Amino acid sequence: MANYLIGTDIGTTSTKTVIINEKGKVIVSAIKDYPMDVPKAGWAEQNPKDWYDATIATIKESLEKSKINPADIQAIGLSGQMHGSVFLDNNNEVIRPAILWCDQRNEKQCKEIYDIFGYKEFIKLSFNQALPGFTAPKILWLRENEPENYSKVTKILLPKDYVRFMLSGVFATEVSDAAGTVMLDIAKRDWSSEILAGLKVKEELLPPVFESPELSSKVNAKTAKLTGLREGTPIAGGGSDNAAGAIGSGIIREGLISDSIGTSGVVFATSDKPLYDKYGRIHAFCHAIPGKWHFTGVTLSAAGSLKWYYETFGASNDMKNKYPDKKGYELLDKQAEDVGPGSDGLIFLPYLSGERTPHGDPHARGVFFGLSYIHDQNHFVRSIMEGVSFSQLDCLSLIRAQDISSDKVVMFGGGAKSKVWRQILSDILSTKIVTLNTEEGPAFGAALIAGVGSKVFKNIEEACDTTIKEVSENNPIAENVDKYKKIYPIYKSLYEDLKEDYKRVEEIS
Ligand code: XUL
Repeated sequence: MANYLIGTDIGTTSTKTVIINEKGKVIVSAIKDYPMDVPKAGWAEQNPKDWYDATIATIKESLEKSKINPADIQAIGLSGQMHGSVFLDNNNEVIRPAILWCDQRNEKQCKEIYDIFGYKEFIKLSFNQALPGFTAPKILWLRENEPENYSKVTKILLPKDYVRFMLSGVFATEVSDAAGTVMLDIAKRDWSSEILAGLKVKEELLPPVFESPELSSKVNAKTAKLTGLREGTPIAGGGSDNAAGAIGSGIIREGLISDSIGTSGVVFATSDKPLYDKYGRIHAFCHAIPGKWHFTGVTLSAAGSLKWYYETFGASNDMKNKYPDKKGYELLDKQAEDVGPGSDGLIFLPYLSGERTPHGDPHARGVFFGLSYIHDQNHFVRSIMEGVSFSQLDCLSLIRAQDISSDKVVMFGGGAKSKVWRQILSDILSTKIVTLNTEEGPAFGAALIAGVGSKVFKNIEEACDTTIKEVSENNPIAENVDKYKKIYPIYKSLYEDLKEDYKRVEEIS
């Protein structure tokens, strides 16, 4: 009997499904996009039904294209964007659009959380700060601002766990995603009764927590009919997109660090112990591997900043004429290559929707600093890549301060496709950057997690060691490293100089 595994990642811009074989070879993949609504500056919402429809469509397409016998699918793994809140009523209907990880509306509720527990005490309990992106303050926001909606809530689910419910009829979550609610006891890997009591959130509103590889639900008859899957196909817990992405990139042992440049930019390091930064400046969550944890630092607008630029201004006509065979982001790469390190003094701060690490500041906004007549479109593109990389250096420095180091950083996500961005990151982080044979990120990791749950693989280590190989390497160029070391302090002080002005501008507009 053949062994195949499905991984589905419910992302912010799209849902992606892959089918892999027992050697980790990707047989087929399918992707479906959906919109994100921004009803007000700093807000971000999505319709959970879009995730479900995209999951059904991509699983169906993958099965049809690959012609794999559904009986040979051993299990499905789900991963997804973290922290989003799906509120269900007693008919299991969605009450309002989901509030996403990048939504910044609930600073007030974060302060209230500190008022309840005390700042230091909350970090001790949750291992993390209460930040607007996280789930707990979203629940408090709903209770205060939409009391009628809140009174109807019977279940609160994370994005991929809503999709799980729709596929199986079962309420379940797993440790890596549950950690991002900041309602989990990270060391014990279960809901924290102390945090829930303080927030006055009943545990029955939340799904039970499993370890990530555990087969916590099964495909129901309706899903089988819609997708072509076999009814009863097991669904593993899966993982947060960051934890699943790390598994898909082999970041499974202490001493390994990855940097994923997707909509958000995430520096991720595995740890064998449940550690945390006493100021909570980096996130300390559970890994999707039993008995392991991880640190992450998050730049909210990483490739998201470049996407904003591309969608607003597009590629330059010069490059379009010079490279008629290139399209889209390939042209932006050419633009960045045309400018030297440091973008001739143009410095970009990537805070388009506030920032998480290290500032935890929902008011921060993007900045181009140092603009002069010499700058053209190419400088803007390169300075965006540089500014995002400086922000990732902020994250990596906090991880290095926890005594976790590595002789290389594994890069993945959309940004990793860009050779020029890989070199910029290598120069700014002053470390070797490698990329891997697997490009499917969290969806691939979710399939490996499902493979462990269904015993296709003995454990995560075996799953990763048999499937993942390094394919490219960029080494820091000494001259560039020196230049960026001189620019970094200016990048850092710009935020400090501007942080009060961000609030003043917000009050006016
Ligand atoms: C992590 C985070 C993002 C989302 C979106 O804390 O908020 O990386 O998971 O992908």
